[in-house]
Parts: sequence; structure tokens; C-alpha cells
Amino acid sequence: MTLPGSPQLAYLGNELFLENCSLAELAQRYGTPLYVYSRSAMLEALAGYQRALAGRDHLICYAMKANSSLAVLQIFAQAGCGFDIVSGGELERALAVGVAASKIVFSGVGKTRAEMRRALEVGVMCFNVESEAELEVLSELAAATGAVAHVSLRVNPDVDAGTHPYISTGLKGNKFGIAHERAVACYERAAALPGLKVAGIDFHIGSQISEAAPYLDALDRMLDLVDAIESHGIAIHHLDLGGGLGITYADETPPSAQALMKTLLTRIDARGHGHRKIMVEPGRSLVGNAGALVSEVLYLKPGTAPHGDPSGAEKNFCIVDAAMNDLMRPALYQAWMNIVACRLSNEPPLLCDVVGPVCESGDWLGHDRSLAVRAGDFIAVLSAGAYGMSMASNYNTRPRAAEMMVAGDQAWVIRDREQVSDLFRGEHLLPLGSRRT
Ligand code: LLP
Repeated sequence: MTLPGSPQLAYLGNELFLENCSLAELAQRYGTPLYVYSRSAMLEALAGYQRALAGRDHLICYAMKANSSLAVLQIFAQAGCGFDIVSGGELERALAVGVAASKIVFSGVGKTRAEMRRALEVGVMCFNVESEAELEVLSELAAATGAVAHVSLRVNPDVDAGTHPYISTGLKGNKFGIAHERAVACYERAAALPGLKVAGIDFHIGSQISEAAPYLDALDRMLDLVDAIESHGIAIHHLDLGGGLGITYADETPPSAQALMKTLLTRIDARGHGHRKIMVEPGRSLVGNAGALVSEVLYLKPGTAPHGDPSGAEKNFCIVDAAMNDLMRPALYQAWMNIVACRLSNEPPLLCDVVGPVCESGDWLGHDRSLAVRAGDFIAVLSAGAYGMSMASNYNTRPRAAEMMVAGDQAWVIRDREQVSDLFRGEHLLPLGSRRT
């Protein structure tokens, strides 16, 4: 029986496998919380984009914010991808896996001067510029060092991506991009400033988008702008369509990457822009369904009816050793992520809230789940390959989880479990003498 979203994840007998590896066995051996990813799930997700773009001048830039672990980056770099980065730290990660700087695009609303200088020094392919002020600073830095910064302006198309407000980015009220009506003037400014060379144009309207319509709206508005910009004598070489394609967490039915790209490319061709280089910046859709967060059940805590609840319904808790610091999405976005037992049992299931040990009522992984588990069993939070580990924190002085990659029946630790001593590193006591208190 396979599970929604990930053909690499299936029960064989009673046991949950990712590729040919039992998640419970990995958890037993390497401890929990444990992130486990499937290499073939990542490569298959990438293949959807590659198939649609084959035969065109294109570059798929994996948006590494979704999962920036080096082994994950290595897989995509070896498969020919570039990277979309949003910080100096992400730039160093990309360079650490040996990708050419000429395959890196630098996005983000708040690039610091130091980050821009480093990106100029290594020669990134393009800066996705998000404001007029950033354009001026980039020009100043490039001109001062004699470098040329290739730029693309991220235009905010003011379309509603129909997703959670925290992960919608293409509306006027969002901090992202340059307003559509300012775009032509900004391109004129970019073309006139020293140290800059206009390379392309881009948009990114949000994340976990489950339909093609907002993309088509954004694309149409972008192509209108390209015509307007070129009529001012400024050449646009590439079109960057951003990322944002959703995955199946529950019952969402987003188009496949291949279908979405085909729809967009058909529109691009029909409007006479088919000769341009096409860039995309997918994150979640490449890694989300490739990973699971495995956790041990610590305690089952039968509930009492909440005070004043007229239904008298009891709240049971399944307390596990993964928490909001390991996986923030439920707490931060009220995101629903599937939670399953790593070994099926014949016990009657318990309706419960799956919660972690962190001292916050907001520390939950799932509400009202039906699970047949006991203390000591393992559960897996599915679709956790994107925005899981990359958003993890050390809240409550909790060391971050270990990570593994599986391929067939092989499994590698790709990140050691953090040690508590790692968390003190760089902290200093006050110079108050050695008196014991
Ligand atoms: N390009 C840009 C400029 C972006 O800001 C993002 C994501 C992407 C590409 C990749 O988007 P994706 O394909 O992954 O949807 N933490 C949130 C998602 C935040 C997305 C931020 N930007 C979550 O867990 O749902």
C-alpha cells in the first residue's frame, strides 16, 4: 500500500518502508527524531521539470531554502541543477557542493552589502533584485570593484496565489518584488546604472500553489511587461517563473510539474517568447514528498473533557520526541501533515493530538489523529522533506535531529544528530570569578 504523495513510501506487510529501508529499523538504529529522505523521490520530482524543459535553453534552480542539507544539494547539483539562494549562508552551501557560481541566482528582499560583495566576487549568474534601493546599492558595489552584476527584477504581479497568507508573496500587500507599475521605470534605471547588466525578469507568487491559473495570470502580466521593457530598447534574455508548485499533503491535487510547465511553456510560445531562456526555482515540489520525520512515542496521555466543552469530548495526547523545533509547519501555518505509524498494529486506534515535549501549547504536529500506537513505537510525519529540517531551531535547548538519505536498500547519515555541547559553543559566562553558588 503506497501513501499519498510519495510512491517511494509504502507498507510492506506491517512495516513502513521508504524505498527499501524500514523507517522503524532506521529509527531503532540511529535514534529519533530522524529525518529520512529518498534520493529517487527527489530525482523523480526533478525529472518532471526536466522532461518539460528538454530541448530548450533552460536552468532549473533548486530553491534550497526548502532543504539545504549538503547531500540534498549534491544530488541536485549532480543532476545538473543550479540553485536559488537567499542568503550568504546559502551561497556558501552551494559553493561547498561544487556548483558553478554561474548557475546560482540570488533572490531575497534584504541582501546585505557583505552578501552582495561575496556574490559579485564569486560571479553569481544573476541577482533577482527586489527593490529600487537594492538596485542602487548593487550598482555602487559592482562599479566599485569593476564587476558586472547581471540583474533580473522580481516583479510583483499582484495576483492571488490562493494559498496561506504567510506563504503568499505575489500580492501588493506583500514585502516582495517591485510593483508592476514601477517595473518599466526600474528597468530603465537598471539599464542606466553603472556596473549592472539587465539579464532577465522574474516572479514568484507564493508557495504550495495547487492550480495553474495564478501562474498563468502572473505569466501574462510578466510577458506584457517584457514587451513594454523591450520597446524601451532593453533586452530581456531570460524569464524566471519562480517556484511555488504545491504537493499533496492530504487531498490537494496540484498539477504535476510537467503539466504545469507544459501549460506555461505553451503560453510563452503562443505569445512569441519561446526563444528566451527559461528558469524555474522550485523548492517544495522537488523535496517535500521525498522525506519523513520519524519520531518515537514517549507517552500516551488519556484526556479529560476540556473544561466547559458541552460535547464532553475527551482530548487524548500522543506525546512524541519530535517537536515544533524540529518541524515548525503545523505550529506556524496550522499546516496539516499526515502522521502514520511505522508499524501497523491490530490495537484499536486512539483519537489523539500528536504533540511534542516543547513547553508551548502551540507545540503540536497533528490534531485529532487516529493512531494505533503505544509508548516506544515509532510514527512518521510525512511530506516533511521540505521546510522541515531547514526551519528547525534549538528552542528549549533541543539538539537538532539527524538526517539520512536512502537509495534502494542503502542508507547514509547525511547529518549527525546535534550534541548538547554544540549548542553551548560560542556562549560565554560573565567574568564573575569562580565562586560556587
Ligand atoms: N523562489 C523564491 C523567490 C521563493 O521565495 C521561494 C519560497 C521559492 C522560490 C520556492 O518556493 P517553493 O517551490 O518551495 O514553494 N516555509 C513555508 C514556505 C515558504 C516559501 C518561501 N519562498 C512552508 O513551510 O510552507
